Amino acid sequence: MGVKTKPVSIAVVGSGYVGLVAAVCFAEIGHSVVCVDNDEQKVAMLRDGGVPIHEDFLPELLARHRNQRLQFTTDLSAATQRAEAIFIAVGTPQSDSGNADLSYVDAVATQISRSIGSYKVIVEKSTVPVYTNEWIRRVVERNGTSSTNFDVASNPEFLREGTAVTDFLHPDRIVVGADSEAAADILRAIYAPLTSGDYYRSDNAVIGHRTISDPPPLLLTSTKAAELIKHASNAFLAMKISFINAVANVCEAVDANVEEVARGMGLDKRIGSQFLRAGIGYGGSCFPKDVAAFRYVAEQLSVDFGILTEVEKINEQQKRRFFNKVRSALWTFRGKRLAVLGLAFKGGTDDVRESPAFDVIRMLLSEGCTIVAFDPAATERAKLELPPGPAMQYVDDLYGAATGADALLILSDWPQFGEIDLEKLQTVLRYPIVIDGRNLYDPQQMLEHGFTYLSVGRPAMYPARERAGARVR
Ligand code: UGA
Repeated sequence: MGVKTKPVSIAVVGSGYVGLVAAVCFAEIGHSVVCVDNDEQKVAMLRDGGVPIHEDFLPELLARHRNQRLQFTTDLSAATQRAEAIFIAVGTPQSDSGNADLSYVDAVATQISRSIGSYKVIVEKSTVPVYTNEWIRRVVERNGTSSTNFDVASNPEFLREGTAVTDFLHPDRIVVGADSEAAADILRAIYAPLTSGDYYRSDNAVIGHRTISDPPPLLLTSTKAAELIKHASNAFLAMKISFINAVANVCEAVDANVEEVARGMGLDKRIGSQFLRAGIGYGGSCFPKDVAAFRYVAEQLSVDFGILTEVEKINEQQKRRFFNKVRSALWTFRGKRLAVLGLAFKGGTDDVRESPAFDVIRMLLSEGCTIVAFDPAATERAKLELPPGPAMQYVDDLYGAATGADALLILSDWPQFGEIDLEKLQTVLRYPIVIDGRNLYDPQQMLEHGFTYLSVGRPAMYPARERAGARVR
């Protein structure tokens, strides 16, 4: 690679979205990495060249580093012994009360503690509540490891699924929470190829917004602050989305266009233009879980953080509002055949966890609709949650889904869903009705193509023949 760096020996525990991307990217910037998972099948697949998730650049980087600087194993004990830094990147699912279930983190910390012979830094990479760092330290000590032989640091991840590799290698910031110099030094060394700009010199470097002259900053904080930065960042981004969705609902009431409002707001640098896209609400494995977990943390600390409850409430209502919009276009549901574009929680990923598309589909199914769905990558995962049957059908192309449908619904923002051949769509749909939960089309353009077009926070468009009855609810 030509990257000048002092390689650090790293173990990454967990090969999910965060763990696998981190392991591959650490190898990419020059370190020697072992990625550990207790799922034998998954490890065998990764060793054999398989790529378990849909993520840009991941196949290329796996091919580049597998069996070179990157190994896969189920043996946590051996990986711990040879590593200087052990990143914990296992799942922290939501429990019934909303708080994060940390049992996987606990189990891994316990196992790690049994294999520590020389100084190691244990790094939390999973999203965890404040004080987790402290708990990991206690668990490791309780299992007999001397406090001089390890530190626990926090290095939260800000990757978005779909662009995770680029986000990792071209981050806005790297946050390191460390309460000792030894731990901070190891983490600085790990990220040195990025923070020095050296990585961006390489001809093979993944391209992104960072350059040799504009490398990412590394922010060193206390461990508690780092834990809070992660939760507060995700909760704030979710709040931005709920805020713009609520603004969109006001726009609908007065026939204004939320995109104009968002543009006007976003040009104010204090607000910023990102994460102001109105839609059917946020989903995914992070925002719903992290807002709930942060709310729970605040509750436990007797802090009234009611805005988080409102953020969740608006997000839930947004899906029902969309469902009602579909009703307003179709009148009745029973026996209607609806084409659904998008099952993933957003475009560019095969992840369907907490996908708002599922909530909308479930409401429609319960009203007696037949759904014919297409997603470029998420179909197989979707089938596990919504099994195929007469009412829930999956097809492998967009126009196939639309053929004979009473209306077309857009539920994920895959780029190709914004590039449909509208003439062709007109000919295959039974009725030219498009209900767009992601605002991928210009309403005027859709009207000119003869569609009834409903979107989020923008004026509804009805062709002349329908306009008279457009306000009938
Ligand atoms: C999110 C954060 O953006 C990452 O910084 C963070 O690292 C990650 O969670 C995590 O904690 O692991 P991700 O869940 O991959 O990343 O997806 P986003 O791109 O943030 O989108 C989340 C949801 O919000 C999606 O359903 C998306 O469609 C929705 N969204 C996003 C909107 O409805 N409007 C927007 O303007 C932006």
